[in-house]
Amino acid sequence: MSLSDAAFPDEPSAYELLSWYAEMGVTEALDETPHNHFAEPAPLPAERGGRPALRPLPGRAPVAVRPMAAAATASDEATLGAQALAREARTLEELKAALATFEGCALKATAKNLVFADGNPEGRVMMVGEAPGADEDRVGLPFVGRSGQLLDRMLAAIGLSRKEHVYIANLLPWRPPGNRTPTPQEVAICLPFIQRQIELADPDILVCVGAPSAQGLLGFKGIMASRGRWVEYDTGSRRIRAIATLHPAYLLRRPLDKRLAWRDLRALKAALDGKN
Ligand code: URA
Repeated sequence: MSLSDAAFPDEPSAYELLSWYAEMGVTEALDETPHNHFAEPAPLPAERGGRPALRPLPGRAPVAVRPMAAAATASDEATLGAQALAREARTLEELKAALATFEGCALKATAKNLVFADGNPEGRVMMVGEAPGADEDRVGLPFVGRSGQLLDRMLAAIGLSRKEHVYIANLLPWRPPGNRTPTPQEVAICLPFIQRQIELADPDILVCVGAPSAQGLLGFKGIMASRGRWVEYDTGSRRIRAIATLHPAYLLRRPLDKRLAWRDLRALKAALDGKN
């Protein structure tokens, strides 16, 4: 028995801890770039303008503050770079090519593929999920895993198919390692691309699938309270209707809530038929 086992008899061993992580579905332990977890999160573009200046805390050496400022600035610069690149793209193909050259988001380094879009870019509906999972990362297309199959069945229930009627993309085009929730910085950096993608695809209706998409694109906080509510979304070229719904990955875990998603789908169908 080691000293730490004796001191903390209930502490799991490193082996037990790793086995537990593996069982919980953690597939990656390391990221390629170091993260400053003490850095101020970069504000989303909608919140810009009021960021307080970074000040050293009383009694602390200024050197402790500088790395934080540097991290925030790097992410701001990446966001500005993303905005410029996205604005320059005049077609969806150009936007995809621009994303492929973009080096401002660290997720690219750990992802296998850029996951840009699937479905029909001419479709009247555009759906935006959160980020690719392991299956999507491997194949390079959004929503191809279990939750994607459920999404296809949900669409089929209202007579829609991704091949014909729906264009599908994600808030982030690269898989976060181990499917972790994207950080606010990653969302802010990738946001100009998905916003431009929506503008170029020019759908009649935007459906945000899941909380991060609903928050990133529509500013909704709390998916349960905001799902199923119609709002206007300004694409930059025109105003379209938008709605948020529950993510199919959540519905796979909580099948009872499918009845809520079904309400949202019926609202979508009625809107497409000009009935609401
Ligand atoms: N979940 C998402 O939000 N998007 C995908 O592409 C796959 C799973």
